[in-house]
Amino acid sequence: MELSQDTKNILGLQLPTDPRWVDLAGISLAAILTDHAYCEQKAALTCISYIQRYSNKEELVEKLAPIVTEEWGHFRLVLNELKKTQPAFGHQRRDEYVNKLIAFQQKGGREEPRFLDQMLMMALVEARSCERFKRLSEGLEDAYLRRFYRRFMESEAGHYTLFIELAERYIDKEIVRNRWKEWLAYETTIMQELESCYKNNHETRFRYPHSFNSPGSNHQPVL
Ligand SMILES: [Fe+2]
Ligand SMILES: [Fe+2]
Repeated sequence: MELSQDTKNILGLQLPTDPRWVDLAGISLAAILTDHAYCEQKAALTCISYIQRYSNKEELVEKLAPIVTEEWGHFRLVLNELKKTQPAFGHQRRDEYVNKLIAFQQKGGREEPRFLDQMLMMALVEARSCERFKRLSEGLEDAYLRRFYRRFMESEAGHYTLFIELAERYIDKEIVRNRWKEWLAYETTIMQELESCYKNNHETRFRYPHSFNSPGSNHQPVL
């Protein structure tokens, strides 16, 4: 699936992953797959929790129900791949990236802004995942793995747009776009922060950038 120009523009992540991250990902594929497996589980669980919380939003329930199945299918695919490289499913590691995103969410008060942030945070996680999969699908040496990650890239791009659409289904489009810009700017600061934290080690987590880029050196859209 080719992403439309609109999707590429909306995606708009400010700080792209350095292509050389893929080299490290290739070296530590088991670590990447383990993190990825937990990400897929969390995606499925989050969709279930939104279906329960917003059971009165008919379209949301209808659209997210199949995503739960899809994300769980992703988890199983990753688990199968992981079995080829290591016998046991590793432990879940602390996800600083997601914790920092959660800290940015509006909590308390009216439901509308909370709902908006929940949809936009999911959109952002999907967008960054999509970007990482794109890097892997283009940069890994193994042709089988390149195809493996291409499939995820296409799927997560669809999820990214779905969460934006769901936000716009229930909230004024201009409010959504303005808040999305704030999320993008915030995500850039997180990526820069995490880059400097992990600058001097060989951390290769799925969502973390390994620091080759000088932070902020490239502000072009990444897709
Ligand atoms: Fe997924
Ligand atoms: Fe997803």
